[in-house]
Amino acid sequence: METAFPSSTTWAHCNFLIAYGAKAEGNSAHNAKLFEDTKRRSKVKAFNAKTVIQVPMLDLSRQYAGLREQFLAAVARVCDSQKYILGEEVTSFEREFATLCGSTEAVGCASGTDALWLGLVAAGVKPGDAVITTPFSFFATASSILRAGARPVFADIDPETLNIDPVKVEEGLRSGSPHRHAIMPVHLYGQCADMDALNRLAAEFKLAVVEDAAQASGATWNGRPAGALGVAAAFSFYPTKNLSAFGDAGALTTSDAKLAEHARSLRNHGAKQRYYHDEIGANSRLDSIQATVLRVKMPHLGEWNDARRQRAAAYDKMFAASGLTKVGNNAQAPVTLLKTLPQAHHIYHQYVIRVQKRDELRDFLKERGIGSEVYYPVPLHLQKCFSYLGYGPGDLPEAEQAATDVLALPIFPELEEFEQRHVVESIAEFYS
Ligand SMILES: Cc1ncc(COP(=O)(O)O)c(C=O)c1O
Repeated sequence: METAFPSSTTWAHCNFLIAYGAKAEGNSAHNAKLFEDTKRRSKVKAFNAKTVIQVPMLDLSRQYAGLREQFLAAVARVCDSQKYILGEEVTSFEREFATLCGSTEAVGCASGTDALWLGLVAAGVKPGDAVITTPFSFFATASSILRAGARPVFADIDPETLNIDPVKVEEGLRSGSPHRHAIMPVHLYGQCADMDALNRLAAEFKLAVVEDAAQASGATWNGRPAGALGVAAAFSFYPTKNLSAFGDAGALTTSDAKLAEHARSLRNHGAKQRYYHDEIGANSRLDSIQATVLRVKMPHLGEWNDARRQRAAAYDKMFAASGLTKVGNNAQAPVTLLKTLPQAHHIYHQYVIRVQKRDELRDFLKERGIGSEVYYPVPLHLQKCFSYLGYGPGDLPEAEQAATDVLALPIFPELEEFEQRHVVESIAEFYS
């Protein structure tokens, strides 16, 4: 059946396509073609052509288009210097990123995964220790604990935020084994975990807090930045992250000079002095090209995070108006929005909803060219490679339930309102 071109999107869409269609590639190429078709049809006043608006989960080309010349100049500067590993660009990046995170030190490294490992080992986690963490995160959160020789102990999540639940952490601490050394909270989707409660427990039980801030560059808790909420924090600059490099990159932040010095040695094969190795570390140095790209992007992070927050608020409003979400005791509503705690400045690295018939909805959206993702389909305690830890189905019910119903929708600073409306209208169509 032919559908009318939605009047609310017609010219906004055309303007968007003018803005991006000529420059960008990939999904935007589709939109550029759509623009040309629409323009042609508009001349004959025929707007009721079948229209397919594709909405990518993430379109980095829109960000790239605006900063292309700066990226090329910065990369050329590194090439001209012929200094590709660590060096001045990395030192400058580390200084600027530490400032952004409210810490005194940042240690650039090869990935967020390595930053987690560096943070744990430099914070004194040793073989035989236990580290308390969430079961609902990316794999590296738990694997880095095992890589440090320690054992992850999972505490279930709060179903409203999907972050680690301090009540569950406390229950575990009051009944658990004595070898616990640290807590690793994850600031999931860009919202800080409840750091007041976790830091209180850490102080009482003498635990180090190492933040997994991989998804939270620029987020804050009670006005304090992620990266300055524990003894150390790990960040990822993987290309899809809200602050991203042109490849793999990561950083550890801390205000403990000794911890930073240890992490710097560990990222360089455990050597403070070339060819003299105090311990076994890794090659996890940050490339100068990644550092220079991050330095181009960093001044824009605040405005990009604000744009993400605006788009999240727009989704919230659209869902509220759609009648799809729970109001009062309406348990039948197919969509549940996550809660943002008042202490959190959530930067919406991801905008995630909880839905009924998640996988069918995802297929439906895919057919319409609308991107979505599932973060995460298998909780960490049920990953095959961790079966020897002894967890089984039913042990962490909130994480297990979330794995069946979370759905991340397209969100990035350049996402257009008509694209968001199309996403929500398509979800409404699925449930109608
Ligand atoms: C919560 C979390 N922790 C750790 C990582 C690992 O970061 P990287 O991919 O840079 O190694 C990621 C990245 O996906 C993440 O989302």
